[in-house]
Amino acid sequence: MPIIVFASSKGGAGKSTSACLLANALANTGANVTVIDADPNRPLTRWASHAKLPDNLKVVTNKDESTILAEIKESAANSEFVIVDLEGVASVTVSYAISRANLVVIPVQGSHLDAVEAAKAVRLVRNQEEAFERKIPFAILFTRTSPAIRGRTLASIEQNFKEAGYPVFTTQLLEREAYKAIFSCGKTLYQLTSSHSSNIDKAVRNSEQFALESIRIVRGLPVEHPDSLDHGQDDKPNVAEIA
Ligand SMILES: Nc1ncnc2c1ncn2[C@@H]1O[C@H](COP(=O)(O)OP(=O)(O)OP(=O)(O)O)[C@@H](O)[C@H]1O
Ligand SMILES: [Mg+2]
Repeated sequence: MPIIVFASSKGGAGKSTSACLLANALANTGANVTVIDADPNRPLTRWASHAKLPDNLKVVTNKDESTILAEIKESAANSEFVIVDLEGVASVTVSYAISRANLVVIPVQGSHLDAVEAAKAVRLVRNQEEAFERKIPFAILFTRTSPAIRGRTLASIEQNFKEAGYPVFTTQLLEREAYKAIFSCGKTLYQLTSSHSSNIDKAVRNSEQFALESIRIVRGLPVEHPDSLDHGQDDKPNVAEIA
């Protein structure tokens, strides 16, 4: 029943997309997965109302801040994985959800503005750690990165995170048409066909890598991607290889 929470006060950082991809990948392994949609815009509730979800993947719509803890507790009792998608603000709901997390995923796009907001999310995690006197694992996830370009900005942001001691996912979620198509077509990633998007196999592989790494972090296992990621001499993942 690990609880994996997606948080960043930066709007559009990729929380809902990454949360949805993780839920898809975990459910595809046969695990019972509950997604709690705690964004008042209800992106995942809308998605679930269109997509024909497998029986082991459920989306619960959060009522408000007074119910989030109970919703997480109930979902954790009934599912193997609970995924919480949060609104892009700092709020009571966000703090409560983080307080219950086994992993907080902080999505970041390759801009300094995103990096600043990620640092705020880390501070929020640390506040909750202090308040509840327990360690709350978190990791930064680069999203919408380009398979071909490794920009200077991205490299400098990575360096800043490294210096700050923030854990960063080895996997980056690449910019993929298929990740938009799940929402625009109202499908799970595994229901998409070539008529919806190109490169679905690569999109599936990338999201499954992300899921694998998430589970490894939650379980305290070393992160390895021997079949897909090449750790070069500079210890940077070669994301081009999976593009
Ligand atoms: N890896 C990706 N590839 C392609 N498009 C993406 C990817 N990640 C996110 N997007 C797109 O970027 C936009 C913002 O993503 P998303 O809604 O997931 O962000 P968010 O952090 O949940 O935003 P909000 O703070 O508004 O809730 C969406 O249009 C989504 O389709
Ligand atoms: Mg969202």
